[in-house]
Order: sequence, then structure tokens, then C-alpha cells
Amino acid sequence: MSAALSSKPTTESPGLDLLPASMTLIEERVKGCPRLPSLRSVESALRELLNSDRRYTQQISEIIRRDPSLTARLLRLVNSVYYSLDTPIKSIEEAVFYLGIRQIRQLAMVTPVIEDFQKLAGNTPFPWREFWQHCIGVAIMTREVISCVQSPTDDTDYVAGLVHDMGKIVMSATFPDHFTEVQRRAGQSQCSYLEIETEVLGVNHAELGAMYLRHHHLPDIMIETARYHHEPERAAHHSQIIAAVQIANLLVRHAQIGNSGNTSTVTSEIWTQASGWEILFPERRDSERAIACAALRRSLERLPSLLQGLV
Ligand SMILES: [Fe+2]
Ligand SMILES: [Fe+2]
Repeated sequence: MSAALSSKPTTESPGLDLLPASMTLIEERVKGCPRLPSLRSVESALRELLNSDRRYTQQISEIIRRDPSLTARLLRLVNSVYYSLDTPIKSIEEAVFYLGIRQIRQLAMVTPVIEDFQKLAGNTPFPWREFWQHCIGVAIMTREVISCVQSPTDDTDYVAGLVHDMGKIVMSATFPDHFTEVQRRAGQSQCSYLEIETEVLGVNHAELGAMYLRHHHLPDIMIETARYHHEPERAAHHSQIIAAVQIANLLVRHAQIGNSGNTSTVTSEIWTQASGWEILFPERRDSERAIACAALRRSLERLPSLLQGLV
């Protein structure tokens, strides 16, 4: 049994007697959960490619780019092996190049599959495939949003978008019953999704994701994105990319592409008035902002066909 599977000893039945966990327990489980599960289709595509004769860095990277868990584990691995590098590695392709096929194969071999994992936990199924589409959709749209104000030089913005909701995967892996209870209440309550998470578990997915990424020594920008993607104005660093992730997240939810688990409606007003716009377009450059919004609406229309067949 994998470390991720063995690190969820909850026996509580969902609903009734479920109490928030103490911070000590939360930290303990987050530390003990190095292997976050991946989506079955991505895991098998990676294994198949690694077993074939034609294995190119770029093809391997393309598969890893479709999976937030694998991406986080890859960056964790490369930055722990090459910890002496001046700047941490934030790009997927660079990480694959540095690690080489042997280490990537080891990474793939110990990858738990999220669909099995939830079956074992005995919980109500969560739409994981749609959740992965949400994460990839946000990653793609983050690139579109940031491109309105600067030319990206590497794929940091994409990776930040991909791992923004890591906390939800971490919650399902470390506190499966609490995660199920959050979904149940989110379908019924008027409270915000983040408030429900805090009420049920004691922390929300933004805090939990940041805690996971920090414990596993991921680059600072990923930690900050996980922590502040719902409130980029609070971030002390990397605020442009975090603002882009906030807007991308709202856009993808507005268009109802994939499923983030949070089913509350995102209206046009919500995404066009998000706090991130002030960070991306300070000094009220309204005309530039309007051009950016129009371009983003067009990109959003193309997104479903881009996502088709990816996971
Ligand atoms: Fe989120
Ligand atoms: Fe999200």
C-alpha cells in the first residue's frame, strides 16, 4: 500500500460526528502524504510511453503537464535532488531533462491512482476527471491572462495555474471523510466553499495546499499561488501570476468547464470585477482591460476543444 493510501486513518462516518481536525493532526497527515494520487488515464499514458522505444523529454513533459499531482511530485523530486541549484527548477520540461528516464520511471511506478484510492476510502465518488479538466483549464487560461500584460519566459505561470487547487487533492488524500462532507454541504449551503471547508476540517484548501507544497519544498511561487489564488491582493510576492490564476479560475468556472468541486455560479460581474484586475492593470487602464476581457472571452470559447482528449 502506498504512503498516500496508508496516511488516511479516518474512520468517522461522513456527516454526523465529524469534527474539525487539530492543526497538529493536519500537519502530521500532510507531512506523511508525499505521494498524491494521479488520474488513471494520465498515469497509464505515462507508463505506456515510458515502456515504449520512443521516449522523448517533450512527450513525457506533455503528459506530466496534464496532472497537478505528478507535476508537484516531479518538482519536489528534482528540487530535492538538485537542491544546490541557485534558482529552483519551476519548469516541467527542465525537470524531466534533469531527472532522466530512470527517475521518471520510478516516479510513475509509485504513483497511486485517485479513482482506486477513493474506492478504498469508501466515499461518494467525486468527479475527478472533470476536476483535472478544471486544473488544466485554469493552467491554460492563466497563460492567456498573463500574456495580456507580459510575455511569459518559461512555464511558471502554467504550473502555478495547474497546482492552484492542490489543497483539494491533499484534503481528499489525507481527510477523505472531511472532503466528502465538504462536497455534501457545498451542494446545500449558501456559505462560501472556503468557509465550509474551514468549518468542516479547520482549514481550507488554499491553506492546506500551501502547507503541502511548503512541506515538500516546492518553489515559493507555487506555495504562494495555492495560498492566495482566491485573494491575490494579500500576496507579498508573485502577485501578477497569482492574480492571473485568480482570474483564470473564475473564467473557467464561469464557463462551467470541468468541475472544481465548487458549484456556485460565477457571473460575468464576478470575473470582470475580480481583485486581480487591479494588480494586472493598475492605474485603471480601462481600455486595455476591456481589450484583455474580449481576448479572454475568445480564448475561453476555444478551451473545451483544447481540453478534449487531454485527460
Ligand atoms: Fe481554489
Ligand atoms: Fe480552482
